[in-house]
Amino acid sequence: NKITFDYSNAVPFINEKDMINIEASIHKAHEHLHKRDKNASDALGWVDLPEQYDRTEFKRIEKAAEKIRSDSDVLIVIGVGGSYLGSKAAIDSLSHTFRNQLKPEKRNGPEIYFAGHHFSQSYLKDLIDVIQDKEVSINVISKSGTTTEPAIAFRLLRDYLEKKYGREEAAHRIYATTDKEKGALKHMASLHGYETFTVPDDVGGRYSVLTAVGLLPIAAAGLDIKRMMEGAQEAKKQLSEKSISKNDAYQYAACRYLLYKQHKVMEMLVNYEPKLHYVSEWWKQLFAESEGKDGKGLFPVSAGFSTDLHSIGQYIQEGHRHMFETVLHIESNTENITVRETEDNSDGLNYLSGKSLHDINQKAFIGALYAHTDGEVPNLVLSIPKLNEYYFGYLVYFFEKACAMSGSLLGVNPFNQPGVEAYKKNMFALLGKPGYEKEAEILLRRTKK
Ligand code: PA5
Repeated sequence: NKITFDYSNAVPFINEKDMINIEASIHKAHEHLHKRDKNASDALGWVDLPEQYDRTEFKRIEKAAEKIRSDSDVLIVIGVGGSYLGSKAAIDSLSHTFRNQLKPEKRNGPEIYFAGHHFSQSYLKDLIDVIQDKEVSINVISKSGTTTEPAIAFRLLRDYLEKKYGREEAAHRIYATTDKEKGALKHMASLHGYETFTVPDDVGGRYSVLTAVGLLPIAAAGLDIKRMMEGAQEAKKQLSEKSISKNDAYQYAACRYLLYKQHKVMEMLVNYEPKLHYVSEWWKQLFAESEGKDGKGLFPVSAGFSTDLHSIGQYIQEGHRHMFETVLHIESNTENITVRETEDNSDGLNYLSGKSLHDINQKAFIGALYAHTDGEVPNLVLSIPKLNEYYFGYLVYFFEKACAMSGSLLGVNPFNQPGVEAYKKNMFALLGKPGYEKEAEILLRRTKK
């Protein structure tokens, strides 16, 4: 009932002595993560969340999801960063690969589309084309309630909804997930009477998938959010061990730190299942925003194998030796597609007859694991018994715990993201947002040079 971590393929870069030496720093950070008198500014609400979540709100999430499932062909989830990556990761990894293209009776809930995570004009136009003649609901998600990408998408899509249904009916089809009292989105929700869900004060955006932020879209997709919370609860139990030898998340964090210290400055999260693509996207945000600051941090990248073994595989095997891999290894698969024997064996594949694609994928995994390790790319392996809601919840908590610990080992604050403001300041100045006049002047002089 757990996800296991194995660093035996990272030897000789990591040895038991290193693990013993790092234990004191782990204990210190552990005490901080589990301290009793937490306050909102510590941003540690996610630590106890799997056990201490708001049950009343959880019931409201289930009820809203039921309503969306009964009155909508389409749900549009508007949000960026931590406000969409977690639900996208869950829905993609746990649903049919072509979920939105399935006939309604096979799909299990509405088609789900994401918006407000960029400024692309053609994406929004194409989305509006796709939802024509369909019944639509919107879940707009922004913890701050003021982020520009989702705010613009919401203004445009709300307009579409109000034209289609009229203001009153549209308001019954809009669900807002945001701060309990502040921000423009909260204000709009109160003004127009949208049902609202809360992002707890002490849970940061990228740690929020197990709050209403992730749970409402995930439940609307027909997935079992109770089971997901049970998986996270089990992870919480297993990963509250102080001792590094008993805590896989702390071992993973320690390995990352020790490899970083040996100039392995890039971590590649590898999967062998295309459905996991957005799990990697979620993971990249979690680690990049948490650790990449003060001139420090591993650079998180991702790859889907075996596809990418035919593109970046050459570099991994023989290029600059500055990376390690963390492999998400899914142990079992319920589908069973096997290679059958043919009489003429003209494609030469009879040696595979009777083998399933899953078996072949497993051999690709072992083959790449040994080849890359031999090529001095240390490999860390996370074994996940199977892809389901329970293990998704477990995995989320595993990475959150490991990320918080990694940040502490590195000596950075894993819960802020001051660096993302720099581009916003320039963009606002260039767009003429009130309050950015000085910056606009400086930028204007720069562009004239
Ligand atoms: O982790 C974070 O805090 C950020 O990535 C946010 O999730 C992202 O910027 C979206 O912010 P908001 O939910 O306030 O719109």
